[in-house]
Order: sequence, then C-alpha cells, then structure tokens
Amino acid sequence: MSAGALQLVAGSASVRLAASMGESVGVEPVARELERFPDGEIHVRLHDELRDDDVYLVQSTGPPTQEHLTELFLLADAAHRAGAARITAVVPYLAYARQDRRTATGEPVGLRVVAELLRASHVDRLVVVDPHTPALESIVSVPVETTTAVPLLAAAVRERIDTRTGADPQAPDAVLVAPDLGAAKLVERYAAELGHEVAIVRKTRLSGDEVEAGAVVGDVAGRRPIIVDDMISTGGTLASAIEALAGAGATGPVLVAVSHGLMVGPAVSRLLEAGVDTLVTTDGLEVPETDLHVVTVGLGDRLGEVVDRLHHGRPLDELAAHR
Ligand code: R5P
Repeated sequence: MSAGALQLVAGSASVRLAASMGESVGVEPVARELERFPDGEIHVRLHDELRDDDVYLVQSTGPPTQEHLTELFLLADAAHRAGAARITAVVPYLAYARQDRRTATGEPVGLRVVAELLRASHVDRLVVVDPHTPALESIVSVPVETTTAVPLLAAAVRERIDTRTGADPQAPDAVLVAPDLGAAKLVERYAAELGHEVAIVRKTRLSGDEVEAGAVVGDVAGRRPIIVDDMISTGGTLASAIEALAGAGATGPVLVAVSHGLMVGPAVSRLLEAGVDTLVTTDGLEVPETDLHVVTVGLGDRLGEVVDRLHHGRPLDELAAHR
C-alpha cells in the first residue's frame, strides 16, 4: 500500500543527506524556504504541492538541537497543512533519546516530551538510526522504525585496519571495546561483524561533560583497542575509557567507531589528546573539518532503501536495527 507520490523534504541539518537519499530513490527534495525572523523565530515554507503524498522529512537533531527540532516540528505541520497523506520523520540522530527516564527526582522525561511534540506536529511515523535507547518504541507514541549503521561502520573499520597496518583484520591483537555498560549490546553487534574479542569499561557519569572510567572487564593487555559507541558528545566517555584501557595494558593507536558524531565543545581536542588515530562515523550528522582523521560513511543509500521500502509497504528486514 502506498500513499501518493514519495516526497523528500530536507531540514537544514540534513541537506546533503536528503540529496543523497533523493539520488538513491530517484526523487528531488521538495523546494522549501527556511528563514529566521529577527526575534529568533524560525519560519518555514514548502513550495511544492504535497496533496495526498507520502512525505519523508529528513532532519538530524544534533546541535543546535533546539533549532533543528523546532524546524522539524514546523516542517511536519507545514506538510500536514499542504495535504500530505502520511508524514514520516527520518531523524538519523534523535536528540533527547538519552533522557528516556528520570534519574533523579524533579527531572522530566525529555524523550517523552519530544515524542509528544512530534505527534502534535502530525508526524505519523519516525525513522531513527541506531537510537540511544531500546525504550524508544515504547516511549514514542507513533510507530518507530530503526535502522542501523553498524555493518557500514564495521566495514569501514575493517578497511581502515587493513590500510593502516596491512594486518589481517581478524588478527588477535585487536579488541573491540564498549566504553560503558550502555554500549555492551552494541559492541557484540560489531563483534558479530568483525570477529574480535570484546571488553567493557565501567563508567560513572559525574556531570554532562565529565565521566570517570573504572575497571576494564575483558583482556586488553597488549591489544589495540577499537572503541565503539552510539555517539560522541563531548568526548569525555571516550577519553576516560582510553585512559582506563592504557592502565589495563592496551597498546597501539586507538580506532573509534560511532553512529553519531556530535563532536560538542572539547570533543575533538579530547580525542586528539587521548591519541585517537581515526574516528569512523556516519554522515547522519555533519562532522566539521578538524585535525582529527575522520572516515565518514554515507547513509544515503541505506536510508533511501528504508524510505523506498516503507513507501511500498515492504518490511525493513535486514535493514532494521537489532533489538
Ligand atoms: C551514553 O550513554 C552514550 O552512549 C555516550 O557514551 C555518551 O553520550 C557520550 O557522551 P560524551 O562524549 O559527552 O561522554
């Protein structure tokens, strides 16, 4: 079952990604205007007719987070009023997913608030890449489809190990590391792709940008770490994990793979100081040019395929993120 023509709309955070999805599905993104009023309000306007169409809004919600979210809400409402039959928000990185529960009295459940605002803006369905929380589906009241960048990232890691060392990617001297317990399932998914052994660093968060790493669980002595996580924000988690790994005897250049490189504040300098050799990430968020060596994996084809299958009512099957 498909609802009218497939239409793509790019938010300002995901112009390049939407264009590459468009190439993949053979559709030009819809013409639209985005401007800022003098008082800071965001104004959006869609120029194409969307009556009875199946509309996909592409907008990652990295920094400036509030602006990208607000733009997404406004684009969804505009598409609704332009007559769209169905609106799917394709949000590779979904902000507020870390606020999926209260950790102290007096806090909100931030993810729930964002979910309600998506629904109120007439979003019918949400597509996310490697979401931070497995609870996403039970918190968001519209249907959620999750896809994963792990096979793409793992392939890039494999290639990088080959290029860098000429070594066999299956060599026993590398170890895949989860920098906290939250990444324990994720590291197993990389292990299924790459075949290395796994270690986990225990972490305590002290504040929004400070963490303390504790014991390393697993054998890392004399091995090169490949650290994997869903996201890098300030780089605190990675820097402290690298320190703990060095203390446990890990050696050699550190490779890092994450689905979402937010790279906030001190992130780049922390990674450089910690001796990160290469960061492998996706173009779900645009990573700025820095001294850090970044390998970027494109999501356009994968998200294009996801959109195409959803449009034609076909299951995501192997494209879906493992739960
Ligand atoms: C936390 O559970 C996430 O998976 C990341 O480890 C964390 O958000 C990274 O943040 P930062 O880079 O600021 O330590």
